[in-house]
Amino acid sequence: MKIAIIGGGPAGLYAAILLKKQRPQAEITVYERNRADDTFGFGVVFSDATLDNFEKYDPPSYRRITQEFAYWDDIAVHFRGSVHRVGGNGFCGCSRRTLLLLLQERARELGVTLLFETDIDDEARFADADLIVLADGINSRFRDKHIDHFQPQVDLRSNKFAWMGSTRPLDAFTFIFQETEWGPFIAHAYQYEAGRSTWIFETDAETFRRAGLEGLNEQQSADRMGKIFGWFLDGHPLLTNRSMWRNFPMIRSQRWVKDNMVLLGDAKATAHFSIGSGTKLAMEDAIALADAMAQAPTVDVALQTYEHGRREEVEKTQHAADVSLVWFEHVDRFWDFDPVQFAFGVMTRAKAITYDNLTLRAPEFVREVDKAFAKQVRGKGFNVDLETPVAPMFQPLKLREMEVANRAVVSPMCMYSAKEGVAGDFHLVHYGSRAIGGAGLIFTEMTCVGRDARITPGCAGLWNDEQQAAWTRIVDFVHANSSAKICLQLGHAGRKGATKLMWDGMDRPLEQGGWDTISASPLPYFPDSQVPREMDRAAMDRVKQEFVGSALRGEASGFDMLELHCAHGYLLASFISPLTNQRTDVYGGPLENRLRYPLEVFSAMRAAWPAHKPMSVRISATDWAAGGITGDDAVVIARAFGEAGVDLVDVSTGQTVRDAQPIYGRMFQTPFSDQVRNEARVATMCVGNITSADQVNTILAAGRADLVALGRPHLVDPSFTMRAAAWYGADIVCPPQYLPGKEQIFRNSVRDRQDFEDLKIKGKPKTRAELKAEATKPLAAE
Ligand SMILES: Cc1cc2nc3c(=O)[nH]c(=O)nc-3n(C[C@H](O)[C@H](O)[C@H](O)COP(=O)(O)OP(=O)(O)OC[C@H]3O[C@@H](n4cnc5c(N)ncnc54)[C@H](O)[C@@H]3O)c2cc1C
Ligand SMILES: Cc1cc2nc3c(=O)[nH]c(=O)nc-3n(C[C@H](O)[C@H](O)[C@H](O)COP(=O)(O)O)c2cc1C
Repeated sequence: MKIAIIGGGPAGLYAAILLKKQRPQAEITVYERNRADDTFGFGVVFSDATLDNFEKYDPPSYRRITQEFAYWDDIAVHFRGSVHRVGGNGFCGCSRRTLLLLLQERARELGVTLLFETDIDDEARFADADLIVLADGINSRFRDKHIDHFQPQVDLRSNKFAWMGSTRPLDAFTFIFQETEWGPFIAHAYQYEAGRSTWIFETDAETFRRAGLEGLNEQQSADRMGKIFGWFLDGHPLLTNRSMWRNFPMIRSQRWVKDNMVLLGDAKATAHFSIGSGTKLAMEDAIALADAMAQAPTVDVALQTYEHGRREEVEKTQHAADVSLVWFEHVDRFWDFDPVQFAFGVMTRAKAITYDNLTLRAPEFVREVDKAFAKQVRGKGFNVDLETPVAPMFQPLKLREMEVANRAVVSPMCMYSAKEGVAGDFHLVHYGSRAIGGAGLIFTEMTCVGRDARITPGCAGLWNDEQQAAWTRIVDFVHANSSAKICLQLGHAGRKGATKLMWDGMDRPLEQGGWDTISASPLPYFPDSQVPREMDRAAMDRVKQEFVGSALRGEASGFDMLELHCAHGYLLASFISPLTNQRTDVYGGPLENRLRYPLEVFSAMRAAWPAHKPMSVRISATDWAAGGITGDDAVVIARAFGEAGVDLVDVSTGQTVRDAQPIYGRMFQTPFSDQVRNEARVATMCVGNITSADQVNTILAAGRADLVALGRPHLVDPSFTMRAAAWYGADIVCPPQYLPGKEQIFRNSVRDRQDFEDLKIKGKPKTRAELKAEATKPLAAE
């Protein structure tokens, strides 16, 4: 077999090593345009998990790599004169040059031919090769040559960055967030061998311009960085090696394989440097390719197996990198945070590290985070314990005069079980049990302001006395038997009205017994949905009055809070999104105009709703569709509602149009809450695939939301909050009838938690840093 590998970076060399081991008879050649020891960059990082992989696949190169590596366990965050260190991270650093030289040595030893100073510009010269590996890096000539086939998407990120080195020793992966007269600069730094550290500097485009970095040569910009970070560099110089400022390209390729050619490493996909995964991804690609080649009967099948098997893992890493880079791009959002909360945000930015996880590794750090959170709550007038504070989830919150005992919320969820809009026994049990279960705040399902405002025939309403009496019964039960507050969500289905019950076909039009629908514009939801009537001014006045009427009935029923539903493509949302609003009057066109009617309805309700009671608005912070609402629009929308007197923005997303492409995942909507809260400076509630109390605490402690709503988890577990309270040892109100149950779970939780922590600590393999420390520790005197 003949294998040609274009590019002698980590991907190409490691693929050569693994394939040659697998097929000693194969003729494998690596073509590299540079000289053997001619390399850019300084250090590379690997996690312990990646090193485990290397150990498994090629022990000799693994041993050489680990002999050359610097280990560290801590991450240190420097911000506004403070430094917070968190241990247990298990990372290693190595010189990129050393890594490449030892991979070259190993490849040669196995019989791979390495041809340096050989620039390949045409794959035709490999016509007799069985496999051509395109490992030619981020600017891959071959990916671009076959651009129509590979279909790469290049997302050039807005921040500027430059890679430098220093002789400054470091004992931790170090983040320095530095305020300057021009704006914030960030250094990501780590040691990779004795006396050498990597320094990646990053800043936003405006700060870059203001700092006059545009047009400076390498040395001049190193001098400028040296001045900014001089206090930390401690007299050590910054070193350059092709250290030009650039914008990071996030690259994703639609296809990785063409005939017998396959993309590997940066050529196929990149991952932002802030999660230190570029070289890791490149070498793990080589592992995946070698695995596929070992098992498949033909090269063709192997390449398909490689692409299908590897794509999800690469996309997951890229997603984590995306989330992380967005955090760094918007670091100014958090600039006025308490430093410990800021450091918590840095640690948890990419979702892998959480509150509970940090509690195990760095309990002192988390205690400080809890204290800072409690201090903020105290600042709002609550007499909370500052010395041994409860976890953020169990800290109270005040909106106007309404106080909620904890931050867990039952998200609004239609039960499709009302008769002619009247909530019945099912609703009483549903809301009642969730209130007793401990949630601080309960939202009703979307309660419709008129018969024709309903989504389905099973939707609850609040437009007549019977419905009002039914809601009063539920509200009274909640107030009498729990400390939960209850918020009425009012909405109008718009063009998504007159549809079937969820279990009969979500959003599908009713075949019989439907009613006329209205919307901002006459656009059906599905092609076969009813075409809604475009609202005229008279219809707008009528519907506004319906909202006000229902709000007044809500007050009469005793609700503590009121939410206006402006999300998910329903009537008011249909005005806000440009995808559903094509009006040419003053309610269409720019966002300011599209917001006009929803704001009008909100203001009319606000005027009717008691001044001491809070109001929220639910928005879709993105339509997940081209040309639709984006996170930046959501900030404008939130500000507009804020000015109109909203107390909380309930940040949901999507459901506006059928062809949306949401990116689901754990806590997938939380970044929008983060953006709205910390840019528009309004209180927010986040929601969406948040399934554990650990996630709730992580979100709150990082300042990404003020309340956290859980929908589906509450459908199966009314006592979600009660159980979390037991786990975290936070006291919680419980009706006297259930006290023995509460006492038992609180008692058992102490033991369960201890067992869990012991198990986690025992089960955690030692990091290489710990193993090395143990191996070099002098034996204790007998
Ligand atoms: C300026 C810079 C500095 C970096 N520094 C670091 C760092 O310090 N730490 C870190 O972890 N990551 C660093 N990275 C990222 C890291 O290099 C990559 O994520 C990783 O090296 C990807 O490995 P690869 O083998 O896919 O690509 P590369 O390492 O880029 O290797 C591709 C190789 O192909 C060769 N090549 C390209 N075209 C041809 C051709 N037509 N013919 C022959 N040869 C060709 C190139 O010369 C190169 O050696 C840096 C990236 C850049 C751009
Ligand atoms: C059965 C069901 C009904 C829902 N009904 C409503 C509703 O009436 N109003 C609303 O704003 N959102 C509604 N939603 C959306 C939820 O409030 C929530 O935003 C969504 O389920 C994501 O949160 P989760 O991942 O915690 O379930 C509903 C969700 C479900 C599962």
